[in-house]
Amino acid sequence: MENSSKKRIVLVTGATGGLGTAMCKKLLKEGFKVVGNYITPEKAEKWTKQMNAEGFHIDLFHGDVSTFEGAGKMIKEIESKVGAIDTLVNNAGITRDSRLVNMKPDDWYAVINTNLNSVFNCTKHVLDGMIERKFGRIINISSVNGQRGQFGQTNYSAAKAGMHGFTKSLAMEVAKYGVTVNTISPGYIGTDMVMAVPEKVLNQIVAQVPMGRLGGTHEVAHLVSFLASEETSFITGANYSINGGQHVY
Ligand code: CAA
Repeated sequence: MENSSKKRIVLVTGATGGLGTAMCKKLLKEGFKVVGNYITPEKAEKWTKQMNAEGFHIDLFHGDVSTFEGAGKMIKEIESKVGAIDTLVNNAGITRDSRLVNMKPDDWYAVINTNLNSVFNCTKHVLDGMIERKFGRIINISSVNGQRGQFGQTNYSAAKAGMHGFTKSLAMEVAKYGVTVNTISPGYIGTDMVMAVPEKVLNQIVAQVPMGRLGGTHEVAHLVSFLASEETSFITGANYSINGGQHVY
């Protein structure tokens, strides 16, 4: 029998990145209607060609989720062209690593706006509909570095820790409407973002991971599809670590 979750519409922000791509593929395979968000047109064009070649057909929508207006305009467009969003995966994120002594105000604000304020910007535009329809899944992609801190990431760690604070509070507010809100905190996954860390530093980090390796994007995508499913209706306000044992508590 077909699972009713298979007809749900999922929006993945930052879809063209390493984690976003894996999530889109997995959610599509699970039968969801998947729409993705992007910011860089050239990257989106290349991505769509590659995905189509692999047999994945996903509509991409342009929008700068770091602004309230950008997120709102994009979500309105998705709702009019595709339909109401049942599941929102707040995945868009950037790094601007440096020690605070060297950090420029721009590096702080860009990371807070893209990684944390985007969560408010997108959630705010889908929440009323979810409450009305008595169903919703909000999945916030945080980081192990929001849980434990990381040298050189005051901006990123603050944003990622903030995401889970948002998750916990909103989970309480919307539980009675059938809307769940959860956080996923990946460790170091083999994405371009992580591969941009200087090799020597990355080797030191991997040496601290009991599994002795980087995570796979498909491993995080699997957890996203689990939380997006109908059956996880009693899981809310949780923070799922997926880090190969790097941070246990
Ligand atoms: N702990 C303590 N001291 C450290 C340190 C650490 N982890 N790393 C560097 N230092 C020290 C150095 O030994 C050096 O000390 P001395 O001056 O006494 O020799 C000092 O700090 C300066 O080091 P650098 O010259 O390396 O400093 P920098 O300012 O040029 O670079 C950095 C700092 C940009 C933060 C660089 O260390 C770096 O890129 N680190 C990796 C940060 C990281 O893990 N980012 C994750 C990106 S991926 C991601 O975020 C995804 C996810 O969710 C996991």
